[in-house]
Amino acid sequence: MPKASKSAISVASYIGDVRTHIFKINPDPKAEMFKTVEEKGKQSSFAQGYVTLEYACLSCHASRDKEWAAGKAKGFHGNK
Ligand code: HEC
Repeated sequence: MPKASKSAISVASYIGDVRTHIFKINPDPKAEMFKTVEEKGKQSSFAQGYVTLEYACLSCHASRDKEWAAGKAKGFHGNK
């Protein structure tokens, strides 16, 4: 499982420090894995229920970008 969950420790871009248990990959290159909400002057980030391409693919394919991954990921594992 991709290390796409984060606790308080920063590891590197597109790599969290805890493995996620979400299986669904969102192949949309514009999709954001986390949503930041500001409430009463405090910012909180929430996961969206899917893994985005940078976490699913670019942790290994670091020289590629999301557009490349989007072109290749569609059709994999039933993604449309
Ligand atoms: C755990 C590491 C890892 C992850 C994560 C990963 N790949 Fe790969 N991928 C590889 C390796 C290693 C190869 C080369 C395999 C070979 O040459 O036999 C490869 C090869 C490929 C290839 C064929 C070679 C090329 O460059 O065209 C494609 C396409 C590809 N991956 C797409 C993806 C996509 C899309 C994702 C995300 C959904 C992804 N990969 C996630 C390691 C990974």
